Amino acid sequence: MTVTMTTPTPAAAPAGKSIASLLGGGSPGSARRLADSGLWDRQRQFYQQQAQTLWGTAMVPHGITGNPRIAATYARLVVEFLRSVPAGSGRPHLVEFGAGSGRFAFLLVRALRALAPGLDFTYVATDFCADRVAGWAAHPSFHPLVDQGLIDFAVLDADRPGPLELLASGRTLDAGSLDGPVVGIANYVFDTLRHDSYAVCGGELHECRVTLPDLPPGAPASALGELTWDLADGPVVPPELSGVLQFYADTLDDTAVLVPTGGLRCLDFVSELTTGATCMLVADKGHCRPVELCSQPAPSVVPHGNGFSLMVNFDLLARVVRERGGVAVLPREPARSLVVAAFVRAGRDGGLDDPERFTAWVQDQLVDTGPDNYFTVRSLLGGGAAADLDTMLAGLRLSRFEPGLLIELLPRLLDVLPTTPDATRGEVERSLLQLWDNWFPIGEPIDMALCLGLAFSAMDRFARAVDFLELSVKEHPDSAPAAFAMGVARRGLRDLRAAREWAQRAVTLEPGFGQARVLRAVLDEELDTPLDSSLVTPLDTPLVTGRGR
Ligand SMILES: C[S@@+](CC[C@H](N)C(=O)[O-])C[C@H]1O[C@@H](n2cnc3c(N)ncnc32)[C@H](O)[C@@H]1O
Repeated sequence: MTVTMTTPTPAAAPAGKSIASLLGGGSPGSARRLADSGLWDRQRQFYQQQAQTLWGTAMVPHGITGNPRIAATYARLVVEFLRSVPAGSGRPHLVEFGAGSGRFAFLLVRALRALAPGLDFTYVATDFCADRVAGWAAHPSFHPLVDQGLIDFAVLDADRPGPLELLASGRTLDAGSLDGPVVGIANYVFDTLRHDSYAVCGGELHECRVTLPDLPPGAPASALGELTWDLADGPVVPPELSGVLQFYADTLDDTAVLVPTGGLRCLDFVSELTTGATCMLVADKGHCRPVELCSQPAPSVVPHGNGFSLMVNFDLLARVVRERGGVAVLPREPARSLVVAAFVRAGRDGGLDDPERFTAWVQDQLVDTGPDNYFTVRSLLGGGAAADLDTMLAGLRLSRFEPGLLIELLPRLLDVLPTTPDATRGEVERSLLQLWDNWFPIGEPIDMALCLGLAFSAMDRFARAVDFLELSVKEHPDSAPAAFAMGVARRGLRDLRAAREWAQRAVTLEPGFGQARVLRAVLDEELDTPLDSSLVTPLDTPLVTGRGR
């Protein structure tokens, strides 16, 4: 999407129209305040229409914010925040905005429970899209957490944040409902919510208005083509932003500056919920320092499918929070893909016991194993063709057992597992079970149960393999690889008749499946001439893995 910016002259307002009339709306195609422009209707439609199917596609990036590594880091940040502020009388609540697939909520609740087993808390996953929220409530992976009272779900529209009607418990959370600390979480959400835009030009502040090309409603965001930005004099600046915008006018070069108005509303919503202290954890791509805000020719609007995202102005968020007496923690080191920041506000009984210590602690976590570092080095954990088992296990541990990493490592793992010494097999087994525990399906075309079944078969743990393969064949009844893997595992258990049926099923489903044919032939022989099981030669590794067809 290319963007043009016109020169800042009073003529930017169409002849005969006052700036005030532009602010009030006008016909499509006219320049509007960014926060009032039709861009946000498109955004809402995009996220509404694809409620259940969006996350199985690569349209909206979510891997960096939906893995066990980021959940483990957030769990530590949450526990440290709760340790550092007055406990209040109620249990802590966590409220996630725009929780998307729900995968992060699932992982964080489990990471928190593991890190602080005695901590009583309620996690509320929210989104503005009611179908998405209903989808989480129906997701089987959430049911045990709901039964334990650890998680609940609510519709929350950041454009009009109102009371949270919790689906599972039936409770309502409104302004002042809570007395304990509250943690807000917004991953890849502030960049999606409403923004305003201003421009600094020759040390003067202007409002930056946008004109959309005239497009049919369903046109993809990339078809927006050229947005036109016009500058208007006499900008309307909300009082709470006047200090920071004046600072920008005084210090920045000629540049466009974004104001995350939707994000600021989320910060307010969280602190209004409780009389206790609050901490908002925000992860997004964005700008942290004034120098990063310089020389932006126009706001950068990046299309994702039919939606879009903007760079989040973390510098502004931090200044606003500090002006109000809060503590803003930005990362110490530059982030390549994802800035994670913490914004803390004190409650009635006080705030952080030691703000400097908390700041240093959060920054240290982010430098150590923060999501940005993890995302950047993750490709190195993929193993490669010659990786040994110890390296792969270390990578899985470092990822906090990310199922996606197992998929990348699986081909090499299946090579080395058959010769793994017994002493190590127990460790591999524990790792595989942790990977399975972290699996939260969101509609990706991945058969995780098959991956686990293959890995257990490769270690001759056939009973375990069958447990997983039962899930695989139930979920994917037309999968020839799953049927074949079940044949191999059943044969490993010396259940030759069942193995023969599964081999036959694999051939029926995929007549050209050579290894399934070989397995069937081997089983025919074994069924004709039953042997002492201890004398039966195990099938070759390729048959076990089901690869190389
Ligand atoms: C880019 S996705 C991020 C999803 C998830 N947090 C993640 O990291 O993968 C943006 C999310 O914000 C939600 N959203 C969009 N507009 C919203 C609004 N006005 N209020 C609340 N949520 C909104 C979308 O439905 C979507 O779930």
